Amino acid sequence: MEKEHTGGISRRSALKRMGAFIAGTAAWGMTSLTGCGKTEKKRIILYFTGTGNCLYVARQLADEHTELLSIPQLVKEKRYELEADEIGIVYPIYGHMPPNMVREYIKRAKLAAGYKFAVLTYGRRKCNAVGIWDEITQRAGCPFDYITTMIMVDNWLPNFDMAEEMKLDKQIPESLKRITSDLQAKRHWHEPFSDDERRQHEGFMAYTGLDPEVGFLMRSEKYFAVTDACIDCGICTEVCPRGNYKLTSQGVKTEGDCDFCFACIQNCPQKAIQFKSLPDDPLLARGEINPNARYRNEHVSLWSIKEANRQ
Ligand SMILES: Cc1cc2nc3c(=O)[nH]c(=O)nc-3n(C[C@H](O)[C@H](O)[C@H](O)COP(=O)(O)O)c2cc1C
Ligand code: SF4
Ligand code: SF4
Repeated sequence: MEKEHTGGISRRSALKRMGAFIAGTAAWGMTSLTGCGKTEKKRIILYFTGTGNCLYVARQLADEHTELLSIPQLVKEKRYELEADEIGIVYPIYGHMPPNMVREYIKRAKLAAGYKFAVLTYGRRKCNAVGIWDEITQRAGCPFDYITTMIMVDNWLPNFDMAEEMKLDKQIPESLKRITSDLQAKRHWHEPFSDDERRQHEGFMAYTGLDPEVGFLMRSEKYFAVTDACIDCGICTEVCPRGNYKLTSQGVKTEGDCDFCFACIQNCPQKAIQFKSLPDDPLLARGEINPNARYRNEHVSLWSIKEANRQ
């Protein structure tokens, strides 16, 4: 019912434009006045996602004054300076560490905010992920007031059957409720972890031989192969946050530094992307549990993953 028109645009359009302006001001940290003179907090939430869990969580923690920003897009735009009343980050833990791109982003970023929060999603074992993020951000001169973890579907394909994983109840609404209420109260808190969890992480690092200063930074040509099932749909060229896939006259080729986010292998509609056989690699020694099962968060479309990651 767009009946009231003023100056050539409808009332609804005018309100929409005003909303867009208010959302735009969030990037500059401006606190807006509502109609009744109350001030509204501006919040930015940064996220990194391979299969949608973190985008889903970021969306759930957003209100109408929140701007959601994808870290691969910020890197692409070389946008490292952000200002708002509150800045949050949602990322998946990889071997209890942040994705390499997230780590490199935070090392360069200048985040000006009165309150900073981090939500780390994981599937089974978080170990001292909170302590690792605290250390990285302290060293970067960008400490966080609130750091917590949240369990979601585990998208680590080598060890888990995605079909089985999706059946598990990870109590996601309960976690979201807890985190939302903490953020409303601007809680200053780092979720605790035990010495045992720290030791488990050390054992994992010794077993995998990963560099603690880098985390998962692989080469896509070493780990992924494209089979004849490929139909040249181009999805892999759009979901990779590093732009590692190309359609060529000889089929799809992949090459480049890789976060191991699995956006490519999980989102290929033909299941034509598979892990190479690497029996000597501790990460892939057991191959893959179920090469026929793939995962994307049920609330997140393929289009949204492309929007988040396209290079
Ligand atoms: C390379 C890699 C490493 C992972 N390491 C861990 C881990 O150490 N512990 C854990 O519980 N889950 C681990 N996971 C699971 C993800 O953290 C989890 O599924 C996350 O919610 C995925 O988020 P996304 O859908 O936004 O990409 C790992 C996943 C990947 C791809
Ligand atoms: S997403 Fe899969 S089917 Fe589509 S081009 Fe890439 S490898 Fe081929
Ligand atoms: S090649 Fe695949 S796993 Fe590596 S960064 Fe790109 S989408 Fe992620």
